[in-house]
Amino acid sequence: MVSRCPDYQFMSNQKSNTQQHKPARILAIASGKGGVGKSCIATNLSTALVSKGHRAALLDADTGLSNADIMLGLKPELNLSHVVSGQCTIADIVINNDDGLLVIPAASGLPNMVELNIHEQAGIIRGLSVIDNQVDFLVIDMPAGISTSTINFARAAQEIVVVVCDEPASLADAKAFIQLLAEQYKVFNFHILCNMVSSLEDGMTLYKRLCEVLSHQPNVTLTHLGSIPYDIKLKQAIQRQKTVVKFDPNALSSKQLFNIIQTIESWTHHNTPRGCLEFFIERLIRFNCIETHHKKNTNAK
Ligand SMILES: Nc1ncnc2c1ncn2[C@@H]1O[C@H](COP(=O)(O)OP(=O)(O)OP(=O)(O)O)[C@@H](O)[C@H]1O
Ligand SMILES: [Mg+2]
Repeated sequence: MVSRCPDYQFMSNQKSNTQQHKPARILAIASGKGGVGKSCIATNLSTALVSKGHRAALLDADTGLSNADIMLGLKPELNLSHVVSGQCTIADIVINNDDGLLVIPAASGLPNMVELNIHEQAGIIRGLSVIDNQVDFLVIDMPAGISTSTINFARAAQEIVVVVCDEPASLADAKAFIQLLAEQYKVFNFHILCNMVSSLEDGMTLYKRLCEVLSHQPNVTLTHLGSIPYDIKLKQAIQRQKTVVKFDPNALSSKQLFNIIQTIESWTHHNTPRGCLEFFIERLIRFNCIETHHKKNTNAK
């Protein structure tokens, strides 16, 4: 059972809205290589944040394949593209799932933000800024690869979590993703999450290997956010369209996910507008505009 939440009413396990509002913290869950577990991690981390009493929303930014919805057992009929086309408001598309997580389905048919006219852009910014007052965390499930829109999402987010697993292609693609952001966009700080590891030691070894392959980038700072083991319980949860943190909170993967939440809770909160959802969307549109302007100029030459 899910409910639409036109007035953004939260379920009882979310903190009271009367508490002093801090800007929402925005975490982009990215990788480089596909299939490393971004959607699993995004759905589980956002659900675990809610179960720890935080107010969280999940934005499915994978406009190609919207796995997050399926993993949560949701079938959204409307998404951001319907807001853009004027068929509904943001309030109509946000889903409050059974666990009290707000899900913003952005999947399928959402045009590049820059293709929207100024009124459409303003409508999305206004709509999302309403949610900004209501959440502590926005977790973004990113598409794989290094397309312009993926890179722009990452640049606009406050914290970038790069998921890697122990495969040469995963390491190589994570390196390429980080290198591109550092060299072209001066983004230097990344949280590394090692997924599907056979032990926590192996997770640490994998993290060190990534540090090594990026050691020629002196400005880049990688921090080890944690490691999640390969866990059959997580697979069973997926088959039931549930998150493992709800399906079996004592599973090995769940325990690690909750440890990661503790680390996230310990991050210092910079009380700057940089974390706000509204600013996030503004940055996203600005970066896309700059990119398109640049392309037009290059093509004209
Ligand atoms: N810790 C884990 N233990 C066991 N299986 C896992 C784990 N993490 C991910 N998987 C498996 O890997 C599959 C792919 O995960 P997921 O869809 O989250 O990857 P993704 O990075 O989002 O992929 P894409 O790039 O295509 O969006 C899942 O369906 C699941 O079966
Ligand atoms: Mg995915």
